[in-house]
Amino acid sequence: MHAVIQHRFGTADVLNVEETSVPEPARNQVLIRVEAASLNALDWHFVSGTPYMIRVMAGLRRPKRRTPGADVAGTVVAVGEDVDRLTPGDVVFGEVKGGACAPYVAADTKGLVPVPPPVSIEAAAATPVAALTAVQALRTHAKLQPGERVLINGASGGVGTMAVQIAKALGAHVTGVCSTGNVDLVRSIGADRVIDYTADDFADGGPRFDVMLDNVGNRSTEDCLSVLMPDGRYVQTSGPKENRWFGPMLSIVGRALRFRRASQSFHQFTADPNQEDMAYLAELLESGALVPQIQRTVDLTGVAEAVAEISGSHTRAKIVVKPTVADVTS
Ligand SMILES: NC(=O)c1ccc[n+]([C@@H]2O[C@H](COP(=O)([O-])OP(=O)(O)OC[C@H]3O[C@@H](n4cnc5c(N)ncnc54)[C@H](OP(=O)(O)O)[C@@H]3O)[C@@H](O)[C@H]2O)c1
Repeated sequence: MHAVIQHRFGTADVLNVEETSVPEPARNQVLIRVEAASLNALDWHFVSGTPYMIRVMAGLRRPKRRTPGADVAGTVVAVGEDVDRLTPGDVVFGEVKGGACAPYVAADTKGLVPVPPPVSIEAAAATPVAALTAVQALRTHAKLQPGERVLINGASGGVGTMAVQIAKALGAHVTGVCSTGNVDLVRSIGADRVIDYTADDFADGGPRFDVMLDNVGNRSTEDCLSVLMPDGRYVQTSGPKENRWFGPMLSIVGRALRFRRASQSFHQFTADPNQEDMAYLAELLESGALVPQIQRTVDLTGVAEAVAEISGSHTRAKIVVKPTVADVTS
């Protein structure tokens, strides 16, 4: 098969389409014929091997995961000996440990659930990592309640566009923050109010929020505290990435320490691909409450350019990957 492969860490041009063998599923894995995949910020971290602390997982000198793509939707074509929950022919979607920018991927079953019939395979592929992050931020950590007010900083990216819709589905009043070109997008997916950060400042003394979901981490802790109610909850998915060794970790630790002296609570987490949240997302997709926003679809030859775009931290919604190559039949 032809897959996107990297042999070393570096900029997105280390990614090439190469011939490789179809993976063998382990005892607890299934082999999925990939119908669609999608890309996330984490793909860029695994391609670049930055921040360097990620190399504990990604490989110290050379990448252990040679093919990007942690979001997949496709058909189960083979199952390992220990798998009894899925059978060949099941059409599933979920988060895998990389490898989905290929016609076949071997995956643990933990994060896989059936694609609801009315949902397109592209929409299913666009969902897992970004929507799991959004739902775990809002429901698990912030415990967002109907009628509460939530501020979403970074509302137009993969996580943000999922979070706006999930917060609306949870019955919240949503304020989204993004740049000028994305205001219409964020409004169109249900935000009650949109703040264009190039023109207005969300920390200018306006209304306070019960929850702040921060997908950017670019503002001072004092600014974040100033927009939260006294019992507000701050959930951080990201932070400044300039530190090449630790990425946002040092600023997250500093912020967590400051919150210990405040009445508001601080939450930071890494999204976990679990069955319960995937089933909830499948329900939202089926009901139409969650409609993944797909910026464009690329084939395998377009993955390097898409990963380069993602490295800039201004990706609009989601980029989907079809595991085809224009002039190669696989
Ligand atoms: N903790 C976890 O488990 C987890 C899981 C997934 C992702 N993440 C992290 O969460 C972050 C968001 O992920 P993503 O997939 O949504 O990334 P993304 O698609 O690249 O989106 C980033 C968003 O940030 C916005 N942004 C950039 N600068 C901004 C600013 N100054 N003010 C307000 N918004 C700004 C961009 O909006 P504009 O283009 O409109 O400026 C863009 O929509 C990433 O850093 C990622 O690493 C964490």
